Amino acid sequence: MENTQVLLNKRPNGTPKVDDFEVIKTEIKDPAEGEALIENLYISLDAGFRNWMDADAGDDVLPAMALGQPVMGLTVGRVQASRHQSLKEGDLVMGRLAWESYSLANDDFLVVLEGIEDDVPEHYHLGILGDTGMSAYFGLTDIGQPQPGETVVISAAAGAVGYVAGQIAKLKGASNVIGLTSSDAKGNRLVTELAYDGFINYRKGDLQDQFNRACPNGIDIYFDNVGGPLLETVLNHVNVGARIPFCGAVADYSNSQPQGPNNLFQIVTNSVRLQGFMTHLQLERYPEARNQLMSWLRSGQIKSLVHEYQGVEYCGQAFADLFAGENFGKTLVKVIKD
Ligand SMILES: NC(=O)c1ccc[n+]([C@@H]2O[C@H](COP(=O)([O-])OP(=O)(O)OC[C@H]3O[C@@H](n4cnc5c(N)ncnc54)[C@H](OP(=O)(O)O)[C@@H]3O)[C@@H](O)[C@H]2O)c1
Repeated sequence: MENTQVLLNKRPNGTPKVDDFEVIKTEIKDPAEGEALIENLYISLDAGFRNWMDADAGDDVLPAMALGQPVMGLTVGRVQASRHQSLKEGDLVMGRLAWESYSLANDDFLVVLEGIEDDVPEHYHLGILGDTGMSAYFGLTDIGQPQPGETVVISAAAGAVGYVAGQIAKLKGASNVIGLTSSDAKGNRLVTELAYDGFINYRKGDLQDQFNRACPNGIDIYFDNVGGPLLETVLNHVNVGARIPFCGAVADYSNSQPQGPNNLFQIVTNSVRLQGFMTHLQLERYPEARNQLMSWLRSGQIKSLVHEYQGVEYCGQAFADLFAGENFGKTLVKVIKD
């Protein structure tokens, strides 16, 4: 049997490009004692993994990715063969593996999904019930705490976290949910497909004026996925008591000189609460988050949206497209084409 692997060929200079990655064919090895062979079904493309592609990137969360090795990423897959005591043949697993059709692994970075929402499509565990859906849930319900009638602004609103956060804000009764996005086409989809009340195209026109028109009563919650210069503009429109769940900084990941806001004093004068969070540090609350998201899915109050590529060899393309804003919903690669 052959494995298709996507290697980190070059360290991206700025935003990732397709030729930063190389597709190779290798032979699949049998699992050694303590390992299992996993057939990856879906690979999750997450902008955050760009952070660990730089040479000096290793930190408490992940090591820096090695050149010439398969790119690290989250996958969902099935155990094909096992010499590991707790991973059984046929188990559905999710974890931090790599951009490849088959992976050899122990259980260090794996969660066995057997018995957890067995009736949903496998890719839900990378999307709406995975790290990104749960980030929307934790950020919005713990920190944002939307109240009926409030104005909620979400950056990267059509991305994997943003499209779920927007839906949760609506069902919690926010009356004005505004998405920040890079094109009118994506903005119109936010309104028609996800019931956002409006959008701001941050690449177009006078931003202050767009905020004045979209948020005439100011901003009560800013769910921030991008950081960078947009936060400065938002801070000029926050209400007293506003909350800012700080989920990510995609605008900075490819930027060697990240930009911060120069008006932080707005946080003081408006008694704003800005709080960062990491979803994977709340493992013990995953059942709570999954149960709540599942219940909203079953009652039709939220939906799952997937931006799917087919064929593991398209991982590099899919990753580059994320940074070009091509996606709408959770970006996934289905390892084997239909
Ligand atoms: N804290 C946590 O535990 C946690 C967990 C998961 C994810 N995250 C973070 O959450 C954020 C969103 O992740 P995601 O998976 O939802 O994103 P995603 O699906 O990967 O989408 C990324 C989106 O970011 C926008 N974008 C790209 N470059 C940008 C730039 N320079 N300025 C502004 N927007 C830009 C694009 O949307 P537009 O075309 O609309 O601009 C793009 O579609 C990321 O920062 C990620 O690291 C945090």
